[in-house]
Amino acid sequence: MSKVLGLSFGRKMSNCEVMVKHALNACKEAGHEVQFIRVNDLDIKDCTGCIACTVGMIMGKRGDCVLKDDFHILDEAMMEADAIIYGCPTFEMTPTGTFKTVCDRLGPSHDISFRKVAIEEGLAAGKSPEQLPDMRSLKPRVGAFFSVGGAMTKNWLAFMLPTMYCMSMSQGIDIVDTFEYHGAMAYNHVVGNQPMMDRSWKMGENVADALAHMDDENERSRWRGDHEGVCPVCHCDMLTVSNGGEVVECPVCGIYGTASIEDGKLKVHFSEAEQARSRLTYAGKLEHSTEIKTCAAPPGQIPNLPELLAPFKWED
Ligand SMILES: Cc1cc2nc3c(=O)[nH]c(=O)nc-3n(C[C@H](O)[C@H](O)[C@H](O)COP(=O)(O)O)c2cc1C
Repeated sequence: MSKVLGLSFGRKMSNCEVMVKHALNACKEAGHEVQFIRVNDLDIKDCTGCIACTVGMIMGKRGDCVLKDDFHILDEAMMEADAIIYGCPTFEMTPTGTFKTVCDRLGPSHDISFRKVAIEEGLAAGKSPEQLPDMRSLKPRVGAFFSVGGAMTKNWLAFMLPTMYCMSMSQGIDIVDTFEYHGAMAYNHVVGNQPMMDRSWKMGENVADALAHMDDENERSRWRGDHEGVCPVCHCDMLTVSNGGEVVECPVCGIYGTASIEDGKLKVHFSEAEQARSRLTYAGKLEHSTEIKTCAAPPGQIPNLPELLAPFKWED
């Protein structure tokens, strides 16, 4: 039996909440223990950008967040979970502010490439687990997310799924399923929309199926969504264009590819080597954390810094 956590960022007993709980019920039926959290009920402060977490881990410490609020409730539930199902409403084409706040609080502080190095080096140096980042960070986890939008046109949910990856990425959670529910306002409530209820249940079954293969990395992380998408790693449809159109990039994975038109259709190719360095992989995250560790300018690089800043000290 594994533990499945469901997180809703929507209103109490509204679409997201019922869909997350429906997926959790499918997991329960498959024999798993489930927990539900309505994230909007928690007091979660915005990240201030102090980087105490990152600096702490680089110095071989726990890297705990300095903010005092309810985040620890979410953190403990996430650390205990083997799988997480996230449901979020669309606000202005993107996930809600609270969703993004949680992403920021999880970002660098829970990045497994920082945590793994801090844990391994700390243990090798004789530190106790209590002095180091939470060991449970390193266990494999799977996840799934869906977005809900009131609009009838799908493009009003344009940045939802790509942005939702910001929630799972740093923790290295393998996302095995995603879907979008647009046109929610045409129904009083999702309980009156049987195809969407069925899809939510299917998400729970897909997560349970992944949990049945936790020892087999390929089968565990196998994509179970309905839509292959343009990127073979995150299965999103978003592309950015650079080098005057010579190169395309998946903005979720941060990988480069090429695009061409074949039979009137856009064909996008990401090499195996690029796919392997997606920031959804451990290698991709390590590439970034190594960059962060080596790029920081030394203190005192600008000797007359106070003097240069003086004209901008307006109302301290
Ligand atoms: C501030 C605000 C902005 C919204 N922006 C969008 C939007 O850009 N696209 C969309 O499809 N729906 C939008 N909606 C509709 C919500 O996504 C929709 O009501 C959803 O069902 C809320 O989820 P819930 O029922 O689980 O609370 C917006 C709603 C609010 C309150």
